[in-house]
Amino acid sequence: MLAPLHRWIWRDAGRRVQKLIRFGETETDGGRDILRAAEVTADPLLRRLYLVHAIDELRHGVLFRQRAASLLPALPQTTKPRFRADWIAPGGHGLDDLQVDKESDAQMLAFLHLSEKAAASRFTVYRNVLTDDPPTCAVFDEILHDETFHMNYTLVQLARIAPQHQRSRLWRARLSRMWKVYLRLAAGLAGVIGGALLTIQYFVILPPFAWLARRAARREPAGWTPIVPERRGSLTRQY
Ligand SMILES: [Fe+2]
Ligand SMILES: [Fe+2]
Repeated sequence: MLAPLHRWIWRDAGRRVQKLIRFGETETDGGRDILRAAEVTADPLLRRLYLVHAIDELRHGVLFRQRAASLLPALPQTTKPRFRADWIAPGGHGLDDLQVDKESDAQMLAFLHLSEKAAASRFTVYRNVLTDDPPTCAVFDEILHDETFHMNYTLVQLARIAPQHQRSRLWRARLSRMWKVYLRLAAGLAGVIGGALLTIQYFVILPPFAWLARRAARREPAGWTPIVPERRGSLTRQY
């Protein structure tokens, strides 16, 4: 349903490069967090899977950055900063919402499963709207293949680690993600409303003050003016 909006977001070449760079950063950050999860887990199988997963995410970061670098030379010299629309078209896995050291294996897997699922569905949309740019499309295709594997292995491992609490863990992770999505949207909306209010203030409230200040400046006598005799004494204290 939002495909036309995403098509508009990705159509701009400058924004496309900025988004790819940003995706590269978040994939690399996600990879570091999963590497940390591999260090803290006591489960040997999970450790191996987390290591493979972390290597995948770090590679995704490199792929996004390389694609952004190859698009850069084609950009005009005077590219202006663009509206990034990160809260409409986010990238990455949202792992920055998670404190890896404090989560249990089951909670980590539930969160990872939902994050990978969301990333896979977002990257599918981005790939579909980027048909005019086959190399970027191919990058999303390659990454999508890994994200589908991440989405599936996390669910299988969650079923192994917490067979009785699989549903409740997923719901807990889902509610936590929904809260974070709400906060992200609210922050984006607050930014837009704040910008609009400040613009209105600038054009409606400031002009009368500017006019009063200019009128007061015109009434001020020009040059040096003598002060009253009572204030002529030397200073004897600081205040
Ligand atoms: Fe990834
Ligand atoms: Fe992933």
